Amino acid sequence: MDVAGALPSVGYLGGTGPAGSALAARLASVGYPARIGSRSRERGEEVAAELRAKWAARKLDVTGGDNVFAAASDVIVLATPWDSAAVTVAELAEQLRGKIVITMANALVRVGKEFQPLIPPRGSIAAHVQAAIPHSRVVAAFQHLPAVELGALDHEVDSDVLICSDDPEATAFVSDMVTHIAGCRPLNAGLLSNALAIEALTAVLLQLNVRYKTRVAPRFTGIN
Ligand SMILES: NC(=O)c1ccc[n+]([C@@H]2O[C@H](COP(=O)([O-])OP(=O)(O)OC[C@H]3O[C@@H](n4cnc5c(N)ncnc54)[C@H](OP(=O)(O)O)[C@@H]3O)[C@@H](O)[C@H]2O)c1
Repeated sequence: MDVAGALPSVGYLGGTGPAGSALAARLASVGYPARIGSRSRERGEEVAAELRAKWAARKLDVTGGDNVFAAASDVIVLATPWDSAAVTVAELAEQLRGKIVITMANALVRVGKEFQPLIPPRGSIAAHVQAAIPHSRVVAAFQHLPAVELGALDHEVDSDVLICSDDPEATAFVSDMVTHIAGCRPLNAGLLSNALAIEALTAVLLQLNVRYKTRVAPRFTGIN
């Protein structure tokens, strides 16, 4: 993956949305080449061009295409809505074989002013995704980082990032990725079974945003 000291490329399935495009810009700004994916090649190319133009002075290595194009990257981020996550990766299973696939999806519903977590099949989206692509190395991470903060490259992102996976090497890889983001601290939150709690916590964070008219991100005390 690490060719001549270069950082691995990262492909974003559904990378045209606020979350995927913000993470792509952020990680590209610290050296991870980004490949924005979409159901539409033109849309993927368009969003990549927008990011390059927005941050022209930073000369971001961001290109775009369809999800097949993005899936050819070294590492994959799954950034679709929760209800299309498993279907999206299942269609690309052969391309994703053996690769680290990071899911940042949250299953939520908004009822009036209240955010409520949903329990997807197998208990979490991450577990559902892992079942859909059993030969890939699924990691749950980045669920709690607000896209607006992630995409504001002139500011640090002040947050811990909870990471869980059944593959210790994949957890270590994503932890290293997180340490490249100024202001973020990676925390190993255990096995993929804990993704349930991580994903559900997002409903609480969004509720806090509404209640306190802000954008919160988690920080845990007591860890040196
Ligand atoms: N927004 C945030 O602040 C934030 C923060 C952390 C995590 N997340 C999570 O990250 C994920 C993406 O968030 P988002 O706000 O960027 O979502 P989004 O804008 O609703 O969707 C992201 C992209 O997914 C693709 N998509 C939509 N419906 C699809 C379908 N039925 N099948 C396949 N692809 C589909 C679309 O890309 P194309 O039309 O180009 O294919 C869309 O641009 C969500 O699961 C969310 O819970 C969001």
